[in-house]
Amino acid sequence: MADLHPAHDDQGSREAALDFEAMYQGHEISFGADDRQSDLIPWELNAPQPLIVELEAAGEITGPVLECGCGLGDNALFLAGRGYEVTAFDAAPSAIERSRAKAAAIDSPVTFTVADATELHGIGVAGGFRTVVDSAMLHCLDADQRRAYLAGLRRVCAPGARLHALCFRGELAARLKMPADMDERSLRDAFRNDWTIRRMEPRHYTTGLTRQAWQSLAPAVSGTSERDDTATVDQHGRVLLPFWQITAELT
Ligand SMILES: C[S@@+](CC[C@H](N)C(=O)[O-])C[C@H]1O[C@@H](n2cnc3c(N)ncnc32)[C@H](O)[C@@H]1O
Repeated sequence: MADLHPAHDDQGSREAALDFEAMYQGHEISFGADDRQSDLIPWELNAPQPLIVELEAAGEITGPVLECGCGLGDNALFLAGRGYEVTAFDAAPSAIERSRAKAAAIDSPVTFTVADATELHGIGVAGGFRTVVDSAMLHCLDADQRRAYLAGLRRVCAPGARLHALCFRGELAARLKMPADMDERSLRDAFRNDWTIRRMEPRHYTTGLTRQAWQSLAPAVSGTSERDDTATVDQHGRVLLPFWQITAELT
C-alpha cells in the first residue's frame, strides 16, 4: 500500500503524499509548498475533465477502460455514459463511497473499487483493459511507486493497451507538493521499460478553483513568479494548471 501520509525524500525536503482520505472526509490538508491548510478539493468539477472529454471525442478511448485514481468519479461516469465498460479505483475509500453514490443516483454501471495503484489488487477484466485513464494521479506517486504502477498495469491490460495520463508539469513545484520530478526526462524514464510514449504535450488541466481560491490555496513561493504559468482561467473563471498530456502504448 502506498504511503498516504507525508514523508521526505533523501534530501529531507520533498513531501511524498497527501492524506487524500482525510480531505475527502472534509478535513483540511495542505497542498501548497508553504504548508497552509485548506478543505477545498481543487479537482472537484462535478463534471468530467475537459481533456478526457476531448480524448473521447477524438476516438482515443476503447473499452474496457480502467480509470486509476478516479477521485469523485466524474470521468468514469462520463465514459460509462458514452457506452464504455468502465472500472475505476481510488485508494481513498471516501472517494469511492461518494462515486458509488453518484453512480447509484443515475443508475450508472461503473465498477468503483478501492485499490492502490502500486498494487492493483482486485483489479481486472476478461481480456484485459484496452484503455487506462489517469487524470492527475501519476504525480501523486514518488519515483519508486510510479515505476511499480507503470509496470503493474501490464498485468491487467490487453496487449497494445493505451494509457492516457494527465500530470503536473515540473514548474508547479514552485507552488505544490510533488513527490517526484515531473520534468520531461524523468517522466520519459519512468515509462521507458513498459510503455512507448506516443504523445507528450504541454496542456492545461481544469481545476474547480477561482483565481482567488488558487492564490490562497497555493501561493507562489517568493522568487519563483517569473516561472509561474498559473494565471490562466477558462471561460467559467476556473484556473487552468500546466500539465503534461501523455499517451503511451503498452510495449
Ligand atoms: C488529484 S486527484 C485527481 C482525481 C481525479 N482523477 C480527477 O482528475 O478529478 C488524485 C487522486 O488519486 C488518488 N490516489 C493517490 N495515490 C493513489 C494510489 N497510490 N492509488 C490509488 N489512488 C491514488 C487520490 O486519492 C486522489 O483521489
